[in-house]
Amino acid sequence: MLDFLFNPKSVAIIGASDNPKKIGYALVKNLIDAGFTGSIYPINPRKKEILGLPVYPSIIEAPEVPELAVIAVPAVAVLEVLEECGKKGVKGVVVITAGFRETGEEGAILERKILETVKKYNLRMVGPNCLGVMNTKTGLNATFAPDFPPSGRASLFSQSGALGVALIDWAMENNFGFSKFVSLGNKADLNECDFLEYFGEDPDTDIILGYIEDITDGKRFIEVASRVARKKPVILIKAGSTKTGARAASSHTGALAGSETAFKEAVKKTGVIRVYSIKELFETAEAFKLNKFPKGNSLLIVTNAGGPGIIAADTADLLGLKVEPPDEAFINALIDKLPSAASLYNPVDVLGDATSERYALVLDEAIKHPKMDGICIIATAQATTDIENIAEVISRKNQESSRPIIACFVGGKRIKKGVEILKNKGVPCYSDPSVAIQAYSRLVEFSLLRSRPEEQPVEIQIPPENKERVRLILETLQNAGVKFLGEENSLEVLSLYGFSFPRRGLARTPEEAVKIAREIGYPVVLKIVCPQILHKTEVGGVKLNLNSDEEVYEGFLEMTSRIKRVMPQAFIKGVMVYEMVKEGKEVILGVSVDKTFGHLIMFGLGGIYVEVLKDVSFRIAPLTYREAQEMIKEVRGSRILDGVRGEAPYDKEAVVDALLRLSQLVKDFPIIKEIDINPFMVQHIGAKALDARIII
Ligand code: COA
Repeated sequence: MLDFLFNPKSVAIIGASDNPKKIGYALVKNLIDAGFTGSIYPINPRKKEILGLPVYPSIIEAPEVPELAVIAVPAVAVLEVLEECGKKGVKGVVVITAGFRETGEEGAILERKILETVKKYNLRMVGPNCLGVMNTKTGLNATFAPDFPPSGRASLFSQSGALGVALIDWAMENNFGFSKFVSLGNKADLNECDFLEYFGEDPDTDIILGYIEDITDGKRFIEVASRVARKKPVILIKAGSTKTGARAASSHTGALAGSETAFKEAVKKTGVIRVYSIKELFETAEAFKLNKFPKGNSLLIVTNAGGPGIIAADTADLLGLKVEPPDEAFINALIDKLPSAASLYNPVDVLGDATSERYALVLDEAIKHPKMDGICIIATAQATTDIENIAEVISRKNQESSRPIIACFVGGKRIKKGVEILKNKGVPCYSDPSVAIQAYSRLVEFSLLRSRPEEQPVEIQIPPENKERVRLILETLQNAGVKFLGEENSLEVLSLYGFSFPRRGLARTPEEAVKIAREIGYPVVLKIVCPQILHKTEVGGVKLNLNSDEEVYEGFLEMTSRIKRVMPQAFIKGVMVYEMVKEGKEVILGVSVDKTFGHLIMFGLGGIYVEVLKDVSFRIAPLTYREAQEMIKEVRGSRILDGVRGEAPYDKEAVVDALLRLSQLVKDFPIIKEIDINPFMVQHIGAKALDARIII
């Protein structure tokens, strides 16, 4: 796919220079120093030789077609250089040059032009405004970064070049190897999805790391990341997703959803592992370097110090890992070999005077223990602790064990040599028990994700004539410039998609209202029908719990005359008489749109406090059945649906069905921007929507 970027046979450096202060010099030097074995063609119209290599005045004159061209000429010259690359038949270009979209409108215009040229010649471009690409296996250092990392099995894409350099620096300090690196820059052509996909297929990449600030194509990200994250761990830092981005919206759902919410949901939907700092990125990646995964969430902790063992156990508990007592065989095998003061329960405490032999005894049994899915070994350096030997024992046992073993050496100077041994032997080692357990828990998460069956979004069968009718309603309103669907239209659209509403009838006179009320049966609700009124309660346009002909008759007159008085301009179509639904629990269902990921479906406990309590859950549409179920479970208060104090349970399946129908509706009609169904009354059997609004 993108092999010409990472495995080119030949590379041209356009804007190569013999001036050591210039980027064009660093690019040539880095390629040579990294031991790139392919051909290097420096291009510069004014030079004959750079760093011992012959220079060509333009790429057209290079003796062969370079597979990759790295461009570091001033912004004004990039367009022409790209034309030449296209004509020559180059496949991939890396544009290092800055001065495009990131600088303002003029730069953006230039960026659009270079993209047109890239498309015209079927080139693929990294950047512009980027640091370049690396492949440690082939000695390809097509960047101007100051260092070339050791070879390893993690590949990294970074939207910030400077952060890329910092990450490489950090990795070198910590003996962390990379396979490939790409700096994304402005992502005018190739973006994070392309590299996720490529690294996902790359046989030299086991772990994918990424730093991103925005996602270019949310739908594609969901599709690609869902696929790749099941195969290989994808560990991402996403910056710039705070609530400030949340727009002022006209519905509860819109106000509750922000871009951070959407990204969180994208993480859940795809199974990528999100971290919040560079430190955490590497700590997590360190655990994945083992390439061994726990089958379940049961963990054995072995320690020579009580405190760190307790911290580890607490963290494990918080993260939902099981720290359960070992089985009898384990205890029987060790009981006579360890001092009587040692604890054989989990955490296993080998005591402060434990030497490497004691650790070895426990580890021998631990790696055979059928119930333990992974092992965390903690050591602090006390007077008799032979930390280097302990590190050797752990490294050896790690090789013998099919389960992941992680180490946590707590301390400073006294543990340093031990840590070095573990690092060199590829055993993840942490200095803080809670960090160790957090990193370990990511292995468990990844393992669970991989074992989860792949699910497809649910397709709800809507009769074609209903779909057609919805299309007609929405198109008519859209053509008329209407954004807010009135209650009648909202109810009709949702009814056509299988939502139930209370029985109702439109009355134009008080007599008609009484007639309808009698047909429905008391008690009833009256609601004004008037396109100009968005919030009916505020103008006295709703009357609940009317129990007699008189109340309905009077209610009709009182409501219509009051509204005529306060809103003389309003056109009153009539009064809707509704069956009064009393039994049930109020929840809210909703839809909003995120600019990156599209429609989000919301569930929460309804009522007027929904925006205060924020006890809501979201998922990116289209929903799978499991997602719809999880949305209900995630809301703390949703337990009231199970029935409290002897109450019969409420119909959660009806909520699942409604969420899936909303998901289908917005999939079929993406012009829908927001929906609020509030309240949605969940009954013991079935559910009814009592009020709904749709915005297109
Ligand atoms: N073809 C080939 N070579 C060309 C050329 C062309 N069309 N036009 C100019 N050159 C040569 C120049 O002669 C010069 O080499 P020399 O000094 O040995 O003669 C070299 O290319 C560079 O051109 P110069 O005008 O000196 O520019 P520069 O080196 O000062 O800056 C960039 C060029 C690309 C580095 C600069 O414009 C830039 O974008 N810097 C920021 C890069 C960045 O930060 N990227 C993001 C990182 S995350």
